Amino acid sequence: MAHSSFAKHPRLSRVDHAVLFLFLLGASYLSSVAWHPAPFWVLLSALGAGYALFWFAVGHRIVKGRIYQSAIAHFPKKYGENGSVIAQEPRISRIYKKPIDFKGYISDRNNRNLFISGRSGSGKSTLMRYVIELFPESSKTIFSFKSGDEYLKLGMPILRIAEHAGYPFSDREAFVQSFLVTYPISSQGVVAASVPNLLRTVLKGSGSWRSLRSEIELALAREKSASVTRSALSFIQQKLADLELASRPCPLPTGDVVLDFSGLNESAKTFYAELHLRQTWHSIEDGSPDPMRHIIIIDEAHRLLKSEATIFGEVARLIRARGALWCGTQNYSDLPDYVRNQFAMHLLFSTKSERDLRALKEINALLPFTATELRDHHFTDAAMRELHEAIPIYTADIAGFQDRPEVYIKPEISENAPIEAKPKPMLDYRDRVLKMLENEASWPSKLAKEIAAQDGMGGDVPKLAVTRALKALREDGMIEKQLLMVEDREVSLYYRKDPAMSGLHRFMEKEVTKKLEKDGIAYELAKPGEDKPDIMTKDFDIEIETGLKHDIKEVERRLVSATKKTYVIVPTEVEMKRYNKAIDEAELQTNIYLVGYNSLKTLYP
Ligand SMILES: Nc1ncnc2c1ncn2[C@@H]1O[C@H](COP(=O)(O)OP(=O)(O)OP(=O)(O)O)[C@@H](O)[C@H]1O
Ligand SMILES: [Mg+2]
Repeated sequence: MAHSSFAKHPRLSRVDHAVLFLFLLGASYLSSVAWHPAPFWVLLSALGAGYALFWFAVGHRIVKGRIYQSAIAHFPKKYGENGSVIAQEPRISRIYKKPIDFKGYISDRNNRNLFISGRSGSGKSTLMRYVIELFPESSKTIFSFKSGDEYLKLGMPILRIAEHAGYPFSDREAFVQSFLVTYPISSQGVVAASVPNLLRTVLKGSGSWRSLRSEIELALAREKSASVTRSALSFIQQKLADLELASRPCPLPTGDVVLDFSGLNESAKTFYAELHLRQTWHSIEDGSPDPMRHIIIIDEAHRLLKSEATIFGEVARLIRARGALWCGTQNYSDLPDYVRNQFAMHLLFSTKSERDLRALKEINALLPFTATELRDHHFTDAAMRELHEAIPIYTADIAGFQDRPEVYIKPEISENAPIEAKPKPMLDYRDRVLKMLENEASWPSKLAKEIAAQDGMGGDVPKLAVTRALKALREDGMIEKQLLMVEDREVSLYYRKDPAMSGLHRFMEKEVTKKLEKDGIAYELAKPGEDKPDIMTKDFDIEIETGLKHDIKEVERRLVSATKKTYVIVPTEVEMKRYNKAIDEAELQTNIYLVGYNSLKTLYP
């Protein structure tokens, strides 16, 4: 394996070499003075001079544009008088530059996951860029967060998320999880537990930020003022404001792409990064196994690692058959142990973080020392299997880097792309259907017909959309349905669940008056708020009862004082039973007749 040779490094420092060189030079001079000529010593000095010249003059040229080993950290051995080894202070010794086959270093293994850590400015992004350029044949998705970042100079197509955020509403669960990554549960206090489910609820059927906002408003309006649910909803409302970006379905390019999150606020960076990581992962997850097909590169991975809701760990674990995950983060300890274990290479730049040093000490006693002593742009590999009493130190010569022009892409957004277009009309229908039910209860085919007429379109689209919208609204508790007879056939009547059940009430009232008109019976309607029966005729009164009030006391009072024959029309058999019981208990007069709506025909035989 390529990296096994790293442990076999020359142990001589630059000073050692200089001493050797001077010794050889001196020896050859002395020998040439003493024994003239002295071929052996001349030969030796020529060899020494050649050796030194090679390293000084040629050595730095063969590492040009390459990663090379430049030093080692080690415990110099010293022997005591009895031949035992005396422990010594660790030290770092420079060695002559030794180029490394870094591509082989990465690809000669089963697990090609790599992570780079180190403090700001230590050279992480630069090294990552170097490594990226070693694998031109793999397709790459790069998550970049800084303006003017290294990754923008690779000449790869760049997608500015600030302008093309994508469409976060097609995968509700991804939205919820990304929200949790952005605002970790632990920071939310008592409202924490209810946040995910509430968010799921308000997201149901939401196809845009606008509709999501109004869903939250509606949900807030339904809540009592001081409830936990209300605090959770307000929390969601307030946080979502930071995440709102113009969103349109936006397919990611299949090949290389740099996702440029710069220009977003910190929360939005995290939210959209998590969303895009999920999307990217789903697009490669099903592909054919090929260990270097796709590389996901995430700089500043600590953004996602604040919460266990992130898909990062799962990607690290599962991507190995299909590619690799490379990430950069400031602290070695940013990655929890179980995630870190998914990475076969831990390229470590200088760090002084106590937590990092503690974690490193667990691996090798020399590592904390090495980590604090590393110069800028120098690194080691903390996951190297051969780490014992010496640790190689590398650096990259970046002379070969050439910045390429930045290429920004505009994703192709097709307005009639079927898959992405779906959720949008769904949302429109949802809002429209709710609006249509505001005044009066209705049933699916009637709603679909009205919408088809308004939009001037036919086919199954309105029908399907209405069915879906009704289902979503019902799941959200916004509307209710009841099986009722309408024009001699049974329909599912949908109505809004406002406290007065006015939609259902109005519908039943209208159906009753239709019948009265047909039978030529004159009637009068009670005005809103008037304490009178709903419908009055010369010979009898009619009370319409939606039956869904908690309390039937109110109608009871009116029934007690009823002087005329009174029909009470209730929607269902179940309600009929309830009313019957109440009427019996109240010992009302016998001129009260309960009529199920579905047997309206039998009214006044
Ligand atoms: N091997 C190198 N040789 C010479 N200069 C380097 C090398 N590596 C990095 N640099 C320079 O050091 C500076 C910081 O590097 P870089 O941006 O890679 O650091 P970073 O660790 O990614 O920092 P941050 O955490 O702030 O993103 C840059 O100006 C870069 O050009
Ligand atoms: Mg960086």
